[in-house]
Amino acid sequence: MRSLRTGLSLAALVTCLATLFTAPAAHAAETPLRDLAAAKGKVMGTAVTGSKLTGTYGDIAGREFNALTPGNAMKWGSVEPTRGSFDWAEADRIVDFAEAHGQQVRGHTLVWHNQNPSWLTNGSWTPAQLSQLMNDHIALEVGRYKGRLATWDVVNEPFDEDGTYRQTLWYNGLGADYIAQALTAARAADPSAKLYINDYNVEGVNAKSTALYNLVRSLKERGVPIDGVGLQAHLILGQVPSTMRQNIQRFADLGVDVAITELDIRMQLPSDSAKLTQQAADYKAVMNACLAVSRCVGVTVWGFTDSDSWIPDTFPGQGAATPYDENYAPKPAYHAIAESLGGGTTTPPPTDACTAAYSVTSQWNTGFTGQVRIACSGAALSSWEASWTFGAGQRLTQAWNASCTQSGATVTCSNAPYNGTVPDGGSVTFGFNGSWSGGNPVPVVTLG
Ligand code: XIL
Repeated sequence: MRSLRTGLSLAALVTCLATLFTAPAAHAAETPLRDLAAAKGKVMGTAVTGSKLTGTYGDIAGREFNALTPGNAMKWGSVEPTRGSFDWAEADRIVDFAEAHGQQVRGHTLVWHNQNPSWLTNGSWTPAQLSQLMNDHIALEVGRYKGRLATWDVVNEPFDEDGTYRQTLWYNGLGADYIAQALTAARAADPSAKLYINDYNVEGVNAKSTALYNLVRSLKERGVPIDGVGLQAHLILGQVPSTMRQNIQRFADLGVDVAITELDIRMQLPSDSAKLTQQAADYKAVMNACLAVSRCVGVTVWGFTDSDSWIPDTFPGQGAATPYDENYAPKPAYHAIAESLGGGTTTPPPTDACTAAYSVTSQWNTGFTGQVRIACSGAALSSWEASWTFGAGQRLTQAWNASCTQSGATVTCSNAPYNGTVPDGGSVTFGFNGSWSGGNPVPVVTLG
């Protein structure tokens, strides 16, 4: 309005607005994330609130995602608030919506220490009663949706940060065997659903993820039904663990699937463009870690819009953690997800069939060793240049098998005289040392 009063013509204003909105509008017309993901055989899911599945929220949930997870609707406290009296309305609504939109459903969650009904948590139960309660709950809830849900998070958050079992109603009453019991009951109730154990802070290699790894290995050895591991991935800006891909791979190597089940990347509010750019790189790093491992079945975001995210309530002062802002406008993170799934470019660059993957191979207080592996399939290179931007002030100190320079945050590495050739089906790896402080997020490498 101020522009109009200062004399700008309406036509000029319209042109100006059209220019402003060209980019988002063009993106909105691009291939939905679910189609990009499906073309790669991956799940791109979101947690949803059933009561919101109309209007713009419903349009985006249906258009962009091929899987839904009820954010709260299937938790014990939601479905059986009073003993013996059930409320399935919101859970049913989500499952119906998913079926109408050709989406999978991830059931969440059966056995947890949070969001249980008070009649359960306040009761005093013998081990036999507790076991009966748990098994009946699983039989009832899994049985209700038998054949309709792709996946269940059977056990949620069983570990403490140091890798010991979390002291919960279940662990204290039944010992660690509650996990095997729960999985066995879920398999009996729906033999076609994939059964997962799901936890947070298990995205990288650490004490907690190693405890989960050892548990899954022993469950497999004992023949307990376990199909997958869910890495929640409630992450902090700039802190995608550098060992995420390696961690996903080690679970895959045990013979189970891996899913990123609750991805969000929170920041101190207010957000600004630098933070949103970092967030986009972080989303891309998580996507790429999953896409790099064939048994990583896909990624679910924990709410697709900042207006439906748990972060501001749980972490005061933080937020803006999801791919869409509060007004349903896609953020840089949305475009980063699309790009990682192969969208966002109309003409693929000629080197598309050669890709570069960055990984941190070891890290200590102030330094780290990393590598970039360039691999070709359906194409070949006779020389190469790999570049990336360090997101957290990292500095390159030394490189081998490549000639590298750093200018500001940008690192550019070109082949040594002896390793410029990357044949179709072959690869070349170069290494480097660097320094870091504060954070060491994994950058995305561009091949030129
Ligand atoms: C969260 C929901 O998003 C909130 O609405 C609710 O108030 C608390 O729980 N790990 C999980 C999820 O497995 O179930 C949690 O969901 C987030 C952390």
